[in-house]
Amino acid sequence: MSFQAPRGMRDFYPEDMAFRTRLFDVWTATARAHGFAQYDAPIVEHLDLLTRKAGEEIIEQIYAFQDKSGRKLALRPEVTPSLVRLVAARRSRIVMPAKWFTIAQCFRYERMSKGRKREHFQWNLDIIGSDSIIADLEVLATAADALRTLGLTPQDANIHVGNRNLVGEMLHAIGVPDQQQLDVLMVLDKRGKVSDEVLVEMLTEAGVAAHVSPQIMKIFDVRDLEDAAALVPADSPAIRELRTLFDLADRAGVGPFLRFDIAVVRGLAYYTGIVFEAFDTRRRFRAILGGGRYDRLFESLGEPPLPAVGFGFGDVVIKEVLDKTGVDQSPGKDVDVCVGVFDHAHWPEALAVAGALRADGLHVDLALGAVGPNKLFKYADRRNASRVVFVAPEELKSDCVVLRDMTTGSQAAVPIPDITAAIRKQPPD
Ligand code: HAM
Repeated sequence: MSFQAPRGMRDFYPEDMAFRTRLFDVWTATARAHGFAQYDAPIVEHLDLLTRKAGEEIIEQIYAFQDKSGRKLALRPEVTPSLVRLVAARRSRIVMPAKWFTIAQCFRYERMSKGRKREHFQWNLDIIGSDSIIADLEVLATAADALRTLGLTPQDANIHVGNRNLVGEMLHAIGVPDQQQLDVLMVLDKRGKVSDEVLVEMLTEAGVAAHVSPQIMKIFDVRDLEDAAALVPADSPAIRELRTLFDLADRAGVGPFLRFDIAVVRGLAYYTGIVFEAFDTRRRFRAILGGGRYDRLFESLGEPPLPAVGFGFGDVVIKEVLDKTGVDQSPGKDVDVCVGVFDHAHWPEALAVAGALRADGLHVDLALGAVGPNKLFKYADRRNASRVVFVAPEELKSDCVVLRDMTTGSQAAVPIPDITAAIRKQPPD
């Protein structure tokens, strides 16, 4: 019998849970601060909702199974198809544009590498029903705010913004047929994950003529919007869109987090315009988050068109980046006060004190296995509690308990009815 979790799956011990909870709190608070409402959907999804045209890595990574009635189901590898299903099912009743977020556990049968697990949590934040560039900006600003709240600055991490339509215009100018462009984009998304030689081989497999591949690779020489503008017609809508977005980002105060990056094209087929991925500035890790505009996903699922934009922000890479950047992640205290006894006979009094402290909102632990002063103080230290309240026979005679400050070591007898007030007078840090 192995006591390890299945390969690629994670156990969360209390110390791991402390980070996860803090991260989820930041995600939730940031989404709410930007006016997004929370939703949820099942981890188990219809397989046919998730499977699209082959070519995307994510489709090959699905954990699929049949239930006992032969229904074809899967553990979701992402939430976006479920979001579309939820919206489609109630479309006429949902006030548009809908600003929704969720924190969803997703499963992908990945080749395990740094930053890649077979299960992860993803904060998804989407605006459905708006084709305005303000919606793109709003999701980007929310992502930037979350990075900032987690302790990262633009010196630590940036959101790289590209535009599929811009690369499309460039591919068009090179002579790549429109129907081949999506396959080419899926290959270009692999840049940096495989060598440039392998990338060219993949382009050939995608049907690109040998003399065209070097021209495609030259697209990556584009460094800024001026370079890009030189390669497409003067009235390029994609360039105009990017310029507007960067101007708005400056007005919204998130400009320093954003940078133009022609190489961001995303590996999911459904994106249609602005696309983005966040990376640590030293590029030591995989993408922290990724998203973009997907104005045709509803249509491709047989629904009337509905524009949408959003992102997924995982819990795995951000932890690696925060660790490496040295951001202080010291967990908050689990326990404010430890309550204990010097003698088992006094548990009834100790329970009453613990009850009163808890009713006042303090986090209180009972030192069950640590009876007697030495054991009790050692235990309270290990729990990182700043106060100990204990019932000692002498003080109890005058209806008092002892309150000990674990930082200074000073202690005093306090009448039982006054104990919460005494702790509140000098709140635990
Ligand atoms: P994605 O780029 O496939 O996009 O995933 C988004 C983020 O989830 C990644 O940047 C990464 O942080 C995390 N992630 C993905 N796979 C793994 C893995 N195997 N292990 C650890 N972390 C992982 C999507 O899923 C889109 N549905 C996002 C979206 C929402 N686009 C629009 N709305």
